[in-house]
Amino acid sequence: MSTGKYKPQYPRIAQLKTAENLRDHLAKEGIILDFDEELKTGKNSPFTKAHTTRAGNKIGNAFCILPMEGWDGTTDGKPTELTRRRWKNFAISGAKLLWGCEAVAVQPDGRANPNQLMINDKNLRDFEALYQMVEREHQNAFGNSEDLLTGLQLTHSGRFCKPESKTKMAPKILYSHPVLNKKFGLVEDYPLMTDGEISELIDSYVAAAVRAQKTGYKFVDIKHCHGYLGHEFLSAYEREGRYGKSIENRTRFIREIVSGIRTEAPGLEIGVRMSIFDWVPFKQGEDGKGIPAAESPYSFAFGGNESGIGENLNESFEFLKELEKLDIELLCTTAGSPYYNPHIQRPALFPPSDGYMPPEDPLHGVARQIEAVAKVKKAFPNFYTVGSAYSYLQEWLPSVAQNVLESGKADSIGLGRMVLSYPELPADVLAGEPMKRGKICRTFSDCTTAPRNGMISGCFPLDPFYKKMEIHETLKTIKAS
Ligand SMILES: Cc1cc2nc3c(=O)[nH]c(=O)nc-3n(C[C@H](O)[C@H](O)[C@H](O)COP(=O)(O)O)c2cc1C
Ligand code: SF4
Repeated sequence: MSTGKYKPQYPRIAQLKTAENLRDHLAKEGIILDFDEELKTGKNSPFTKAHTTRAGNKIGNAFCILPMEGWDGTTDGKPTELTRRRWKNFAISGAKLLWGCEAVAVQPDGRANPNQLMINDKNLRDFEALYQMVEREHQNAFGNSEDLLTGLQLTHSGRFCKPESKTKMAPKILYSHPVLNKKFGLVEDYPLMTDGEISELIDSYVAAAVRAQKTGYKFVDIKHCHGYLGHEFLSAYEREGRYGKSIENRTRFIREIVSGIRTEAPGLEIGVRMSIFDWVPFKQGEDGKGIPAAESPYSFAFGGNESGIGENLNESFEFLKELEKLDIELLCTTAGSPYYNPHIQRPALFPPSDGYMPPEDPLHGVARQIEAVAKVKKAFPNFYTVGSAYSYLQEWLPSVAQNVLESGKADSIGLGRMVLSYPELPADVLAGEPMKRGKICRTFSDCTTAPRNGMISGCFPLDPFYKKMEIHETLKTIKAS
């Protein structure tokens, strides 16, 4: 839908100026979201808490930059100036954990778009240079990069592959999905990936991890979120063969990748970013607001219940038990998918052009992820657990995040969109500086709308670098149409 003439239906965060305003609004909406009125400073601040992983990697504070791609690599998968600028901003943000930087394809057919980065032998030098640039920039800004932990997110985009053209999907799917096959124009008997193709893909993951280690990255994230292939394995309840039906089979993919990496790249730490819960796909209702695209009972939401709009973390916990057995410590949590239920994944007041008006105050989405992550952290205290979806909190981000850290509901605060508009937010919070209001992400969703319309991503409304680009005008026209 267009966001040009869109009038938000919920109060803007900037209107909730005082703690009392926020508290009243939360009570009215029935949202449980704790926050601290006073921010602690210096060593007393939980944001300064460091951690050393069991593998011996140091993380110097409790801020994490979440992976964010820019649809701006070359068509042979190399970074461009735009990619480097984004990664540099991550490096100088002040956060000491860079979770994967962005989704990097392990093989050509697994790219989500023709400009997605790809780690292969031809691009090794480029990935090495990126890593070194991150280290150097961080060191220049903060005097020390020994406690900066930078990983690479490895992915295959599965159902959402568009490797050759921005307009032509070339999905690789594990099972026929009753709603998503239709939504993305796939016939019911669209061919499934074979077990043989999956085995080859596992080899590609292992080879990519070996390359990541060679080029300096300290960990790789085996992405299991957002409806991409890794995530689809978890809900392959109806798939025949070695990778479907039982939880044992649906978690075989991660086990085989980890086993390969442990053999071929010993010493490389492994993390997993997972959608800890999912819901039914949503579509626009008659009034433009999102509504479920399928009736209950809905049985394809991993970590979701049969209503399609609620959580049941039993199977998520089964998956986490597997990760524990694999001695994985780094866990980055998220939810749902930006393609079919964005309001639970990246709560926003203004929807992206292929989305729907938020069916709930976006603070519900923030609180939902915080609550689910708290349950994970309570049941699995040994994971170093990163939370996501904090950007919608805007002015209240530090107050809520401090409370989350102090109450042990997560170990690290992951930042996505906020660092596109305001890269130095972590450094400001750590220094006890007030937030720079003009840089606060207002969840306009242009960074999603642009790539959905074949353009690069960036914070067009607030980052002066993107603001002045010609395509910003094109984007405004798209939004107004
Ligand atoms: C432009 C953009 C690109 C993204 N790219 C990735 C990605 O490459 N890998 C990933 O796991 N998540 C990706 N995400 C999701 C974010 O990591 C994060 O989960 C989401 O934005 C919610 O966090 P936030 O509220 O801080 O923005 C992307 C989000 C945006 C807005
Ligand atoms: S375009 Fe900028 S303000 Fe809008 S959601 Fe993205 S980062 Fe936030």
